[in-house]
Amino acid sequence: MKREGDSDPYAMFSREKSDLKRVPMMPVRDMVIFPQMMSPFIVGRESSVRALEEALAGDKKIFLATQHDASLDDPKPEEIYSVGTIANIVQSVKLADGNIKVLVEGVERGKVVSVTAEEGFFRASLRAIPNRAEPSPQMTDASTRVTGLFEQYVKLSQNLNYDSMIAAVRSDDAAKLSDSVASNLQIPVEEKQELLECFDPLERLNRVADILEGEIEKLNVERNINTRVKRQMERAQKEYYLNEKLKAIHKELGRGEKNELEELKKKIDTAGMPKDTHEKAIQELKRLEMMPPMSAESTVSRNYLDWLLAVPWKKKSKEIRDIAVAERILEEDHYGLEKVKERILEYLAVRQLVKNPRGSILCFVGPPGVGKTSLAMSIGRATGRKFVRVSLGGVRDEAEIRGHRRTYIGALPGQIIQMMKKAGTVNPIFVLDEVDKMSTDFRGDPSAALMEVLDPELNHGFTDHYLDVEYDLSKVMFVCTANVLHTIPQPLQDRMEVLRIPGYTETEKVQIAKRFLVKKQLEQTGLTGDDIAFSDEALTHIIRHYTHEAGVRNLEREIANICRKNSRRVVKEGRGIHVDVAPTNVNDFLGVIKYREIWAEKKNEIGLATGLAWTEVGGQVLSTESTLMEGKGRLTLTGKLGDVMQESAQAAMSYVRSRSALFGLPRDFYRHVDIHVHVPEGAIPKDGPSAGITIGTTIVSALTRNPVRCDVAMTGEITLRGKVLPIGGMKEKLLAAHRVGMRTVILPKDNEKDLADIPAEVQANLTLRFVETMDEVLQIALERPVQTAAPVPAPEVAADFHAEAESDQELTN
Ligand SMILES: Nc1ncnc2c1ncn2[C@@H]1O[C@H](COP(=O)(O)OP(=O)(O)OP(=O)(O)O)[C@@H](O)[C@H]1O
Ligand SMILES: [Mg+2]
Repeated sequence: MKREGDSDPYAMFSREKSDLKRVPMMPVRDMVIFPQMMSPFIVGRESSVRALEEALAGDKKIFLATQHDASLDDPKPEEIYSVGTIANIVQSVKLADGNIKVLVEGVERGKVVSVTAEEGFFRASLRAIPNRAEPSPQMTDASTRVTGLFEQYVKLSQNLNYDSMIAAVRSDDAAKLSDSVASNLQIPVEEKQELLECFDPLERLNRVADILEGEIEKLNVERNINTRVKRQMERAQKEYYLNEKLKAIHKELGRGEKNELEELKKKIDTAGMPKDTHEKAIQELKRLEMMPPMSAESTVSRNYLDWLLAVPWKKKSKEIRDIAVAERILEEDHYGLEKVKERILEYLAVRQLVKNPRGSILCFVGPPGVGKTSLAMSIGRATGRKFVRVSLGGVRDEAEIRGHRRTYIGALPGQIIQMMKKAGTVNPIFVLDEVDKMSTDFRGDPSAALMEVLDPELNHGFTDHYLDVEYDLSKVMFVCTANVLHTIPQPLQDRMEVLRIPGYTETEKVQIAKRFLVKKQLEQTGLTGDDIAFSDEALTHIIRHYTHEAGVRNLEREIANICRKNSRRVVKEGRGIHVDVAPTNVNDFLGVIKYREIWAEKKNEIGLATGLAWTEVGGQVLSTESTLMEGKGRLTLTGKLGDVMQESAQAAMSYVRSRSALFGLPRDFYRHVDIHVHVPEGAIPKDGPSAGITIGTTIVSALTRNPVRCDVAMTGEITLRGKVLPIGGMKEKLLAAHRVGMRTVILPKDNEKDLADIPAEVQANLTLRFVETMDEVLQIALERPVQTAAPVPAPEVAADFHAEAESDQELTN
């Protein structure tokens, strides 16, 4: 720092004693007085008062210098800075407490040369230091810089009044500018003193500018921090305020949030969850506690916890283990079905002895209305379990079984978990209806998810996407139902124990109606046996003429219909009239007969044969017809036939051509005719090879103009050589043939072994003809005997094959 020295431009003054001024000296603390500045302050110290009085008595000039240590009351001359300011006393007022208030105006800098002690005060010999600045470009630059910076500084600093400050420092003189700015800076006394001791105006200006820059930076940082802190405080305060208010509202409404969370905790602790799940639930609860209540995420979290608590973890129905009771209940609920009931009882027995027997999922397969679902319900009743059911028909999304992840808006658990919640126990009987109607698409394979549900080795750790914890399904008793087996994926089938319920005969249906359906419907329509009675004949009449089914669903509906009409009558006319439902008055209730045709009552016709098919709704009787037209050997097939059925039609055609000689047809007959094979009831998709012999029969009948016997029904696959191969669903097909009143049924020889399954009633009413060759079929089915064969000579066969290969392109469908 530059003080007085050799380079000091004013150094020469020091040598000339005559220039020295002798002025009373007053030490000041905590402030530095600059020239040109007006400063008010209070004087209290004795020595200071003395110095003031001395100055006032003289030319009113006083030397003000800052003491090093503000805490000293009586500083010695060497404890006072040697550079100060000579000032004029503008005003002085004695205050009531003895102190004096003075207003001084700085005149010029003074440097102490010597100090003498007088009566009670010091007098300094001073050298005055002139304050002049020669105008120069540097000086102008520095002044502009300081003015600009000072404006910024005042703006940022909250303690300074902008207008008065700017006015105070406005000065054309650079030397004066630096002093007035310096005196207004809020910087430590030491720094101010340094500025006072800097005698060169340009240097002083630059130093002031540097200090200003530093101060501005500090103020900026401070301001940024301040605004940030302020903003945070505001937000925190607002949240706090709102939360408090909310709590108050809750309290007012009598639902303390705290209590609710505590209650949740209690529920979680007592739900009987496995350890991992319990941990997860507690974690979620902690998360919930941190969230502002009523926020969207807390609702999500809340719902999740509610689900975790809603599914059963340990509650169990007490199982009935008495097989005799089970037997009684099954018998009470269902007529017939002896074999199925026996299998169910065996199954229940095995489940008691072995924990997880392989393939232990029951699957009832059969047409609609044969009692699959109601049997499953009976099992529930017989074992004392709760009963739940989901329908998988049309399910194509894995998520329907396993749920959606919680991250999806509106996510829910899948059907399995939802049903478990509904059951409320860990060991219900769980019916999966229509497993054959599931399909697969891009949203994942539901049957894969189902596999995990049904596999006894996997299902103790079933995971639902929503719950996201393992759930034990091993105590659940699953029962599936399906109309057909072949659409169920093989791996699923492997896990099931299939029980077929093919359908009922007419007599069985009458019994079921008498014992169960009528009773049930009377109850449901508020009638008693005094109001109405159904005779066996009436029931048979309804079965024959108003229903057309393997099961008893429509029969039950028609009975309900009759009952409802009678309820209406009872309400209108009162009790006391008894109605006997008989064949003669059924049409009063149900209208005209819906199914009149009894197939066997039809006429024998050329090219029209009766086939037996096995469809989803059970056995079906299907007419099959062929007609000939002049043409070029085209084979046309219509009636929604699947690929396999079309191929078997072509096989039948090839058989006919290979036997043309025997049938008395010209060898090239096929070159001049088109054959059209049609299977009516186009709405029903048909497939499978078992129509082969029926199609063959119609073609031969059409070509030879030999009518087919209308009381004969048939089913069997045909080979090129005229062999008849076995078929599936024999029982269903025979029930259908019996239902429509056929007399004779032609069946493949290889199916004779299935005879054991056929109800005696059906066997007694139908003549069953088991055959090995198509030739036998024709003998039975056609009205006039057909010449059957000496075996076809070998060369001819070869030639035939040749012809066949040629004409294959002509045979189009
Ligand atoms: N053997 C039977 N004894 C008594 N009632 C029966 C018998 N078979 C069926 N039922 C009755 O027939 C009605 C239809 O049965 P259910 O609904 O169980 O048929 P389903 O085989 O499940 O049919 P779907 O394949 O259409 O679901 C029920 O009221 C049932 O009680
Ligand atoms: Mg059902």
